[in-house]
Amino acid sequence: MESLRVLELYSGIGGMHYALKNTGISGHVVAAIDINTTANEVYRHNFPETPLWNRTIEGISLDEFNKLHFNMILMSPPCQPFTRVGLHRDIADPRTKSFLYILNLLPRLRHLPRFILLENVKGFEKSSARQYFVEMLRKCGYTYQEVMLSPTSIGIPNSRLRYFLMAKISRDTMFSKIKIETVFKNLDQFSQEEKLQQLQGLKLRYFTPREVANIMGFPESFSFPEEISIKQRYKILGNSLNVLVVSTLLRQLIFNC
Ligand SMILES: C[S@@+](CC[C@H](N)C(=O)[O-])C[C@H]1O[C@@H](n2cnc3c(N)ncnc32)[C@H](O)[C@@H]1O
Repeated sequence: MESLRVLELYSGIGGMHYALKNTGISGHVVAAIDINTTANEVYRHNFPETPLWNRTIEGISLDEFNKLHFNMILMSPPCQPFTRVGLHRDIADPRTKSFLYILNLLPRLRHLPRFILLENVKGFEKSSARQYFVEMLRKCGYTYQEVMLSPTSIGIPNSRLRYFLMAKISRDTMFSKIKIETVFKNLDQFSQEEKLQQLQGLKLRYFTPREVANIMGFPESFSFPEEISIKQRYKILGNSLNVLVVSTLLRQLIFNC
């Protein structure tokens, strides 16, 4: 497995970073992002080497995220909009804005992260935010699992029930058919520049004139004189016809009509 490049959103005091370290899996946090200056001070104190961005998530551009080349997201979005005792304003709560921003941004990333882990409070599982999240995951080709866990479930005497969502995208999904389908399905939402980026990410190419000729049923012996430019080759092939289709019709005309 390639080394993990982790984006830690809503990093707080670094609980996710410690959890990652605790696994012993090779990886590092390429950026931790939070706006709470006190929490950030604590984070920096414990992880002085980790780039810590004291910025609002919704103020970070797609380009800035792309440059981080992360393949995993760990995040604990603000839970107040979903708590059982709170107003439960869900996506109408301004504190959910940054999470919705991430959901909107994720399908546009040049490379989808292979892993996502989200933590939140009990209540999140019934929210519209969760509904949007899983819809986005499905659209992007992730498989996911949701669990409610409390430290008591692993023998720790602390009752703290939390919602967790683990999402994973297979390598095949990242580079194959599904990624292509996802890009084309969502293409209308993108600006001109984003469209180009998305299409470049697919590493598609045009068929060569020879390949076009093959598809059109021209035999191997068919060739172009050298002086015919590539552009001209495409153009005249475009004006031509499918040799196999026409030969089928000719057979029909001659023998059966
Ligand atoms: C539930 S706490 C995260 C706790 C973290 N996992 C930890 O181990 O400390 C949510 C965090 O999100 C941060 N936050 C809230 N809105 C934010 C935004 N728009 N941009 C960046 N950080 C934000 C808060 O400052 C808070 O530290």
